[in-house]
Amino acid sequence: MKIGILISGRGSNMIAIVDAVKGGEVSGAEVVVVISDKAEAAGLEKARERGVETVVVERNGRTRKDHDAEIVSELKKRDVDLVCLAGYMRLLSPDFVQAFPHNIINIHPSLLPAFPGLNAQKRAFDAGVKITGCTVHYVDEYLDHGPVILQKEVNVSDSDTVETVSARILKQEHLLYVDALKKIAIAI
Ligand code: GRF
Repeated sequence: MKIGILISGRGSNMIAIVDAVKGGEVSGAEVVVVISDKAEAAGLEKARERGVETVVVERNGRTRKDHDAEIVSELKKRDVDLVCLAGYMRLLSPDFVQAFPHNIINIHPSLLPAFPGLNAQKRAFDAGVKITGCTVHYVDEYLDHGPVILQKEVNVSDSDTVETVSARILKQEHLLYVDALKKIAIAI
């Protein structure tokens, strides 16, 4: 199972995936490329440090369709089977989704379908939820939408702040993404 990871920033989920795959936790898997739409994404250097090839494909004023076509071509060139979105801050075009049917997954820091979109942790915290968490799901062309693969709950206590809850969610994200990959690797 050849994995391509798309990032836009810090890349902590990408690192969790790369380290787990390199550690042999996901049977038959290999991370073949990390692609960023931002040249300044901090995750790029961390991927390179781990010996993973990186590619930057910036939008450069193109349509989403044209931008996505270049990313799809970079992924196809490397025979990627599974695309993992890990803090990739763009919606995928229908063409991108159709290029990898049922083989694009994403992680989101809430219990979807609650709180899709940006700042999910803060919006959940501000709403006063007592349980939040994270979700790994298959990707379609809608925002943070598609069949759920795995979810993990995180409790919110009275002493929590948005920062403490967000940090606990992130910790669980790293574990959940790897668990989802293990599940997919067994199914393939
Ligand atoms: C994570 O919270 C992820 O759930 C969301 O964007 C954030 C990316 O963080 N989609 P990182 O780049 O993986 O550190």
